[in-house]
This record gives sequence, C-alpha cells and structure tokens, in this order.
Amino acid sequence: MNRTGTTGPSRSAEPRPAASAIGPFRRLRAAVSLSSLGFWLSLPALTALAGTLTRDEHLSSRAQAIAGVLVLLVLPALLLAPVAGAVTSRLDRRITLVAADVLRFAVVVSVPLVDAVPWTMAAAFLVAFASLPWIFVVDASLPVLVPEEGREEARRSMLRAGYGMAPVAAVVFAVLALIADAAFGVAERADLPLYVTAVLFLAAAATTFTASEVFSSATTTPPPSPSPLKLLFQGQRLQSHPAQGQARNGQSQRGRRGAKRGHPEGTPVAGAHAAGPAHDDAVRGLTLAATVVALVVAALIAVARLHARNLGGGDAGYGSLLAGLATGLAFGLFLGPRMLEPFSRRRLLGLTAIAAALALVPIALVQNLVVVVFLAAFAGMAAGVAWALGTRLPDDVLRAFAYLRAVALLTALVVFAAVPPLAGLIGDHRLELGGATYDASGTGLALLIVAVLSAPAGVVAYRRLDDRRGIPLRPDLAAALRGYVYTPPEEAAQGPAVIRDRGVFIAFEGGEGAGKTTQARLAAIWLRDHGYDVVSTHEPGATKIGMRLRAMLLDKETTGLSARAETLLYAADRADHVANVIRPALERGAIVVSDRYVDSSLAYQGFGRRQEVSAIARVNAWAIGGLVPDLTILLEVPTETGLGRLASPADRIEGESYEFHERVREGFRALAEADPDRYLIVDASRPQAEIAREIQYRIREILPDPVPAGTEDVTSTFPAITDV
Ligand code: TYD
Repeated sequence: MNRTGTTGPSRSAEPRPAASAIGPFRRLRAAVSLSSLGFWLSLPALTALAGTLTRDEHLSSRAQAIAGVLVLLVLPALLLAPVAGAVTSRLDRRITLVAADVLRFAVVVSVPLVDAVPWTMAAAFLVAFASLPWIFVVDASLPVLVPEEGREEARRSMLRAGYGMAPVAAVVFAVLALIADAAFGVAERADLPLYVTAVLFLAAAATTFTASEVFSSATTTPPPSPSPLKLLFQGQRLQSHPAQGQARNGQSQRGRRGAKRGHPEGTPVAGAHAAGPAHDDAVRGLTLAATVVALVVAALIAVARLHARNLGGGDAGYGSLLAGLATGLAFGLFLGPRMLEPFSRRRLLGLTAIAAALALVPIALVQNLVVVVFLAAFAGMAAGVAWALGTRLPDDVLRAFAYLRAVALLTALVVFAAVPPLAGLIGDHRLELGGATYDASGTGLALLIVAVLSAPAGVVAYRRLDDRRGIPLRPDLAAALRGYVYTPPEEAAQGPAVIRDRGVFIAFEGGEGAGKTTQARLAAIWLRDHGYDVVSTHEPGATKIGMRLRAMLLDKETTGLSARAETLLYAADRADHVANVIRPALERGAIVVSDRYVDSSLAYQGFGRRQEVSAIARVNAWAIGGLVPDLTILLEVPTETGLGRLASPADRIEGESYEFHERVREGFRALAEADPDRYLIVDASRPQAEIAREIQYRIREILPDPVPAGTEDVTSTFPAITDV
C-alpha cells in the first residue's frame, strides 16, 4: 500500500462486511429487540403484581408469590429449550414466532384483568415458554442471513439486542411506575407496565409478520439448540454439538478432531489442554466463578422488590434497583475484556467474582435506597466483568457461553426458589443497641447469607483459576494498574546477571514510521566511532531461521494466522536471536543495539491484538531466558504522522487499522512509563540530529567506560560495526 503524508490512516487489512448493512438482519434484530424488551419488562411487571396481589400482607406470602413468578420465568429456558427447538424446526418459523408473540400479548393483557396470583404465575411460565422459539430462530437464521466473515459480529450484535434490553426495561419500568403513581395514584399496581409489555409483544409480532424477507431464504436445516441440562451434566466434558459446528465456523470440528486423538471432547479452558489436575482445577474454578456471579445477581433480583419496599421505595424503587444492577452488568460486560490488560485474566475473573459477592454486604446493611442502587450497580459491574472474562477464557467461546449460561440458569433457578422464602422465614427484626435501633430486614439478612456463602466460594474459584501461583497479588495488581506486568525479583534477576558485567544491551522500540531504524543505526555508528565493539541487529529476522519466520510473519499472503501463533512465531524468532546473536555478543563484551525486542511483542501482539499482555510477557520471558535490555529507547510519534511516513508497500502488520496502531502506541507508552529507569522516551517528531544527540547523552550514562563529553570527534581503530 503506497502512502504519502496525506493519505490518512483509514485502512483496515481485511474489510469486513458489516452485518448491520444487511437489511433482513436488521429487521430480525429489530424484532429481537422488541421481543426482548417485552420479556425483560415482564419480569419486574409480573413479580411486582404478584407481590401486590397476595392478600395477606405478611412478608413470607409476598416472597413466595415473587419466588414463584421468578422460578417460572427461568424454568422453560432450562428444561424446555430443546422441545421448543424441535417443535419450531418442524413449523413455519415466521408463523410460529408471530403466534408465540400474539400468545404472549394475550397472556400479558389478561393478567391485570384476571388479577390473581395463580394466573400471574401461569403467565410467567407462558411468557417464558413462548420466548424460546426466538433463541432457536436467531441461531438458525444467522448463518443464512450473514456471510461467515460477519457472523461473529452479527452474533454479538444479536446478544446486545437481546440482553442489552434488560437495563432499558428496568428503566422503562421505573418510569412507568412513576407515571402510574403520578397520574392514577397507584404506586404499587403494575398494570401500566404490563400493558406496555403486551404492546411490545404485539409490535414484535407485527415486525416479524412483515419481515418475510428474513425467512424467505431460510431453507437449510436449522441447528437444534443445545440442552442446558445436558450441558450441565456433561460438565467439563463438553460435547461438540454437530449442528452447532456447522452453523458456527466449525468451532466444534476442532473438538471432534481433538476427540479422535483421544482427548476428551473439547477443552473448555485455554492453556490447560491436556486433561489433568491443572485443567480440572481451571474448569472447576470457572464453573464456580460463574456460580458465584449468578448467585449474586439472582439474589439481588430475587429480593429487589421486597428490599426496595423495605427501604421506602415502591415499584419505582424496585425498577431503579433493577436498573442499577442491569446497567452495572452491561457496563461490566463491555469493560471486562478491556480492563487492566497487563493483568492475568484468570486472576481478574476470580477477583471480580469475589468483589461481586462482597458487594452484597453493604447492600444488605445500608438503609438508603439511593446508595443501595449505586451499590447494586457496582455489584452488577463486577459480575459483568467476571462474566465477560469467564466466557472468553476458554478457547471455544461459543460452547463455553452455552455451558456457563446453563450453570447460571440453574443457579438462578435455585436462588429464585430459595432466597425470597428464606427472607420471609427470617422476617424483619428491630435490633436495639444501647439506645440506637437498627431495622434488620428479612431481605437484608437473606442477602447477607448469600454473601457469606458466595464470598468464600469466590476465593476458592480464584485459587483454582490462579495462573500466577506463587506471585504475590498486591505487587502484581499494582504493576498492572501502572500498565505493566509484574516480574518477581528472583525471576527478573535470572539470566542477565550472568552477563551484566560484560556487554551492554540497548533496544530501540516504537510504532511504524517512528524512525527507530535510522536512530538505531546512528547510535551504532556513534558508538563504533568511540571504539566500541558494536553488534547492530534487528527483529524479526536477524538469523537464518529468523529470516524465514520473518517472511511468514510479514508476507501479506499469510492470511488467517491466529494471534497466538503470530505471538509464538515472534517469540521463536526472538529466542533464536538471543541464543545465536545477542547473548554471544554480550558475552564477549560487545554493545548490542537491537532494532525492536520484547516490547514490540507486548505492544503489537498484546495491546494491538488485544491479547493478554501478561501471558505474552511470560512466553517471551521464557524465550529470552530473562535477558532484559539495559536501556530501551522508545521513539514516539503520533500514529498519524508515523503511518504517513511509510512510503513502501505495507506489510501484514503495517496494513493493520489505525486503531490497532494507536493501541500499539499507547501500549509502548504504558510499558515505558511503568519503568522510567530503563527507558528513554524520545519525541521523534523533531529533527533527526536533535533526537540522535538526546539518545547519545542517555547512552553515555550506561556505558561501561563512560565516554568523556567533548570526545565526539574521536575515531578509533577499534573493530568496526558488525551488521547482522
Ligand atoms: P520491520 O520491517 O522490521 O519494520 P519496522 O521498520 O516497523 O521495524 O517489521 C517488523 C514488523 O513486525 C513491524 O510492523 C512490527 C512487527 N512486530 C511485531 O508485531 N511483533 C514483534 O515482536 C516484532 C519484533 C515486530
């Protein structure tokens, strides 16, 4: 790709067809949004009404009614999904969806008219049951509507349209409750939200009915949905689902091939492929963490109505509490993969699960609804981060999602059935403590019990998941907060200590077009002029093998190289480079000047490719045997300037998107700022000579035999620069 200074950084290596540009996909997504909004709105509406309809005012009968509605809302997804899938696959999909939504409309409209707890419960079951065809139809339609390259994006977009409606529904519910209160003076009658829910189902039915283009081309056999219960019983031995494999980029084919070789089907947790204690531990840790997260979120949903009421809020308070929780969750889901990138994903998953559990304590104790809403948002956020990390941890994200969803559904079912009655059983108590009184509510105490159960479970999950055992948490976390990976002193001291008193190792780093190659060369010439034995080298490709790796890595013909394989190839090149060039040179006392080193992998493969930076640091630490440069010079230019300076056709990495290079630049900066003693950050947009001078001053400080200032013009007869 030819670039001039004015070309602008608007390219992306592989332009993907955006799913949202496909009309039928958009229609389907609109229908899913409406239907999901209706479903999520039915949750607070039905529970609120059930809580109001119980004739006797006693906490436990209200609690039981709410528990009943919640259980019946979850039960169909857990037990009946395969049945619904099988039935839907035999019928006309469009008509089935329209019929299901019209049924949901009719059921929900009838609830306030019938006005009785048993019918409200039956309605919960019917609404949830009639939602099941949607999951099936979406799974079956995506492969037909969206070409393979855009399918992953389409799947995410559908998930957002489905689950993303939960916070919206909670806010809508709170607002409707306020309106009902102001206009009709009914603070605790969920009629209005129920009618709105019904209208949403009708709108979903109308959208589906008119979107015939969505269904016209769907002649393939749709994949049956996996049964959550079956997934649960299989536990860590997740079966690859044949139909899912066909629909989902052959993800499960990998599992099948693995199975042939005698591995159990599928390996849910990355980095622990051979079934063994570490693998089992990680899978159990992941399952336990998902259970903790589901416990916390489900417990909050289960008591939200009664707890809000206890704190003086009506349905609007209930809606606000749910809105806080759901918004926190959504934010956490978004934040999770981006949070604290240099920190171990598994550790973060364990920590956020513990944080979610601990957040229940103040939620249980604080007696102010507004504060509780914010605390619920925090708990939701921690849970969301944990969930996002947990579902991404295993190699096979799709199957992990299905498995963890099943774990969460079962947990929610148990919590919904048990926690509200528990709160009723405990009842409200007034504690007198030396004149002061404290109203301990049944719901608050029930939440405390959940916290007491789930926090230790979170700690066990953390221990099982921990992939940095033996490395203390505090410095690890502190380092990650400052943007780099913590290396324990013993580890950092390995390797380089042997050769530290001999040569000097200087690395030049920076993004594209920063001028590092020029500056590395100028520095090497300057050093040679002062009589040093200089080995000037570069990555990737300084050795024979390295040149072949470089060709593979940078050739634009190389397509489909996975990010992990790319990382390992760079690490392989580096291992060879250290063993055959850098270490021998340092051992004979030379000064090694390398154009790029480990930080390039952390910045490009870690920050750029959004992989776990700590994992890349570990792989590389092993590859280089702990050989850290004495000085790393980071040349910084704005991404636009750097990319604009490239004149030659782009290689595979240079052709990445602007955002990629921007992340790389920020990554380099974070690495350098975290260890100012070992880095020199240079503003490389200045004139070349000025930059060279600044670098020389800094190098002088670390030279074994300092070159006196003012001797720049001395040219010695020492060995000339050795170019590798
Ligand atoms: P190179 O032609 O040496 O370019 P530059 O002048 O930018 O150094 O190509 C090296 C490319 O490889 C560059 O785009 C950065 C990339 N790279 C990584 O992604 N990871 C690494 O570990 C290294 C050493 C390089």
